[in-house]
Amino acid sequence: MSFRLQPPAPARPNRCQLFGPGSNTKLFEKMAASAADVINLDLEDSVAPDDKPQARGNIIQAIGDVDWGKKTLAVRINGLDTPYWYRDVVDIMEQASERLDQIMIPKVGCAEDVYAVDALVTAIEAAKGRKKRISFEVIIESAAGIAHAEDIAASSPRMEAMSLGAADFAASMGMQTTGIGGTQENYYMIREGQQHWSDPWHWAQAKIVAACRTHGVLPVDGPFGDFSDDEGYIAQAKRSATLGMVGKWAIHPKQIALANQVFTPSEEAVAEAREILAAMEAAKASGAGATVYKGRLVDIASIKQAEVIVAQSELIAAG
Ligand code: COA
Ligand code: MG
Repeated sequence: MSFRLQPPAPARPNRCQLFGPGSNTKLFEKMAASAADVINLDLEDSVAPDDKPQARGNIIQAIGDVDWGKKTLAVRINGLDTPYWYRDVVDIMEQASERLDQIMIPKVGCAEDVYAVDALVTAIEAAKGRKKRISFEVIIESAAGIAHAEDIAASSPRMEAMSLGAADFAASMGMQTTGIGGTQENYYMIREGQQHWSDPWHWAQAKIVAACRTHGVLPVDGPFGDFSDDEGYIAQAKRSATLGMVGKWAIHPKQIALANQVFTPSEEAVAEAREILAAMEAAKASGAGATVYKGRLVDIASIKQAEVIVAQSELIAAG
């Protein structure tokens, strides 16, 4: 480890973030009753321009009135390139109850985007005497966003999570796809005449994970648009989990159980991690730094890998 230690990410379950349009009040109670760890009430792209004022009002009321349990409650504001975002922040921060936990800033392209929202939020918190400090999550969904991911992760002490938004990201990058995440028909390699599909999201995800882990922010996989394709969702989520992401969005309630299944370490994985820790304890007691577990090498690095799995499972059990 560098002399500069890696800060821990916020200790909260973030396996699934469920989205719903702020204009669709019928969904709010259902979202609150769901098994998602995080709720994102949307003011951005799922709300038509004419409906933005009404959606703000709906969200402000629902934050106070609905019983959101222990969930992390967030509002997605509009992007800084729109005429809506400042009114989103002002109205929500001035009028919503302190039950609100987090503001999600979409289409962040540079650290200064976060700075601008931070300045506004900080002033309103002080003016209104709000006691709970609002945290931030951002969506990386542009070429600029991915290019500046590390600066963005470090942009504010309010930063808690960063998601990859596949659809806007693909558009900004000029990628030839209209799919929202998942396998892309034309992204394959040929070996012995056979097509082998590869993962076009891999680089962006790994870059986000590195930026987040450097600065103690939770890396999250964004939406998977085809909500009739459970297998595709699970495959995408498993790849994200393998790369170090802690959760994935649900844009339909049927995706919640899929995310929770993938991002909750399995009993077998936790049992194996505990066995590795025990094997390493025994090795240490006999003065060895490495040992053999089920025919493979485990060493001091394995302790840290195993501890990630045990810590994640304990966090979820406590949530
Ligand atoms: N949260 C909670 N419940 C939801 C929901 C959501 N996001 N979306 C749908 N439901 C409910 C429906 O109300 C319905 O409930 P019921 O059985 O009590 O009638 C049930 O789940 C099944 O819904 P279904 O008929 O399959 O979907 P739909 O046609 O009503 O809605 C969408 C489909 C995609 C429009 C809707 O899921 C949605 O608005 N998703 C969120 C979109 C969003 O926020 N996008 C921004 C982030 S990318
Ligand atoms: Mg988007």
